[in-house]
Amino acid sequence: MKSFIKKIRLYGRLISALNGFLYDFYRFYLFSAWRSDMKDAEQRNYNAVKIYHTLEKSMSLKNRRLGAGQSSAYILLDVLKYAKKSNNIGFHDKAALSTLSRFVELDGINKVEWVEQIRKELLAFDFFSDEVHGSQIYRLEDFRKGMLENPEKFFFSRHSLREFKNEIVPEHVVKRAVSLALKTPSVCNRQAWHVYHTSDSDIKYLALKYQEGNRGFGDRVPNLMIITTDLKAFVSGYERYQHWIDGGLFAMSIIYALHSLGVASCCLNWSQTPAKDKMLRSLVDIRPNHTVVMMLAIGWPDENNNICVSARRPLDEVYSSLNARRKL
Ligand SMILES: Cc1cc2nc3c(=O)[nH]c(=O)nc-3n(C[C@H](O)[C@H](O)[C@H](O)COP(=O)(O)O)c2cc1C
Repeated sequence: MKSFIKKIRLYGRLISALNGFLYDFYRFYLFSAWRSDMKDAEQRNYNAVKIYHTLEKSMSLKNRRLGAGQSSAYILLDVLKYAKKSNNIGFHDKAALSTLSRFVELDGINKVEWVEQIRKELLAFDFFSDEVHGSQIYRLEDFRKGMLENPEKFFFSRHSLREFKNEIVPEHVVKRAVSLALKTPSVCNRQAWHVYHTSDSDIKYLALKYQEGNRGFGDRVPNLMIITTDLKAFVSGYERYQHWIDGGLFAMSIIYALHSLGVASCCLNWSQTPAKDKMLRSLVDIRPNHTVVMMLAIGWPDENNNICVSARRPLDEVYSSLNARRKL
């Protein structure tokens, strides 16, 4: 009897995984951009960055083939036409126009036939971005500005804190951390992130109601974030996990950004059943196309804090040289 119950439990795990995969598939079907609907401003903007980024990459290469990028340039032109018709110009629409305009002015490219046609068509658009787009010089001295004098001091002084000083972290500090984290790399620079933040006790209570890792401290968390990614940024089935990856990277950057500003945090998992994900959405206003990556408890550290040791595995367990399977 015991072993039968054990077996049921084991297979139950597989069934709940399948339930989760189906839920993720259903959300991908409902909210991702597989239909490439250019009338949807958000889908169009994500699409624009995906394409203009290929031009940026081409512009940044040392050995460019003159005339490379023709198909991207034409696709981008079409996207810009949709943007113009929409009367709803977004950040990436503007950046796309500025990038394409710089692209057709590259040294020597005027000799390429199709470029002249695109250049003429671009005269019809007037929603340029004020920022620099395309490619730019990045000097070693600029790169070195980012080096930490003592990286061990920075990385090893971060710990998850679950109990904080009884004081709300001001919104400008939280926003500064998010701004720093916006420098996180993302696939084709799509930046499909969205952060929900609150320090309101009632909202925190609702948000944490179905989160299963905050017992014993959740009611005293000063600030709470819900970190999400936008499914509208993802088109192909190959990208089915990309929003989790980009969201995870972004979350880590927020954590380090907060740490650099003296603010402590603790990740709160959202490894939840479809039912609980829906329940959360029925309690707090998270847009349906936003996938919850995790929550983050935030607060100032107290004078003295208790933390888990959370020992790390030895390096040789997580690192090895990559070798070929066959003799080369
Ligand atoms: C995605 C994610 C989800 C987590 N969820 C929880 C959680 O629900 N509750 C909790 O107390 N800690 C949670 N943690 C914190 C981990 O327990 C903690 O990061 C780990 O023990 C390492 O400790 P450190 O962050 O102090 O280095 C989570 C961490 C991650 C990365």
